[in-house]
Amino acid sequence: MDQTASKATPDLDQLTIRQATQADLPALEWDGAFINYRRMYADIYQNTKSGKALMWVVEHLQAGIIGQAFVMLKSGEQSAADGRQRAYVFSFRVKPAWRNQGVGAYLMRFIEADLSQRGFQYVTLNVAKENPGALRLYRRLGYEVIGEHPGIWSYTDHKGRLRRVNEPAWRMAKKLNPSSQSD
Ligand SMILES: CC(C)(COP(=O)(O)OP(=O)(O)OC[C@H]1O[C@@H](n2cnc3c(N)ncnc32)[C@H](O)[C@@H]1OP(=O)(O)O)[C@@H](O)C(=O)NCCC(=O)NCCS
Repeated sequence: MDQTASKATPDLDQLTIRQATQADLPALEWDGAFINYRRMYADIYQNTKSGKALMWVVEHLQAGIIGQAFVMLKSGEQSAADGRQRAYVFSFRVKPAWRNQGVGAYLMRFIEADLSQRGFQYVTLNVAKENPGALRLYRRLGYEVIGEHPGIWSYTDHKGRLRRVNEPAWRMAKKLNPSSQSD
């Protein structure tokens, strides 16, 4: 990795991937950029307690949390996450200053290995049709487009207002390699 670049250049050894704690939730609002997701993140956190979801964060030794990805293990949408074979990755994000240096790929590979160890066989995700950069990264990581998704959903923001999202997406999936006992 080029240590002379002006951008922050993470040495992957300086990164820890761990599950978010309740105390991390404010940091996941990314200095206010995602304050509107406050209630949704609190709900997802509750789902981690009942074993339906995982919230992963990437922590840099000095900079703190620089990336995140959430996983639904079991959801109402069986084709995305059925609690047994399929798990759904969402809210995958790396802070702008830390992008294009392998952090996203590192986190996705970690999540795939973790899901494989939990016995899951497929990872599913949605990528907005207007996000060719993420689509390219997912393809490089071995994901294939398996269909389309209307991408229409809603959530209640931090002020209690219903927000509607309309983001047509590709549904992608990847078959995982079974983990060996020694993993
Ligand atoms: C999508 C996202 C999470 C990817 O994170 P990232 O840390 O930039 O991912 P990576 O660095 O692993 O890969 C991104 C690119 O950098 C390249 N790259 C990786 N390591 C690199 C390095 N050391 N030097 C230069 N380029 C590198 C990768 O090859 C990849 O290239 P590509 O765009 O041609 O596919 C990030 O761009 C992001 O947060 N975007 C906004 C939110 C978003 O769109 N999320 C996805 C929703 S579906």
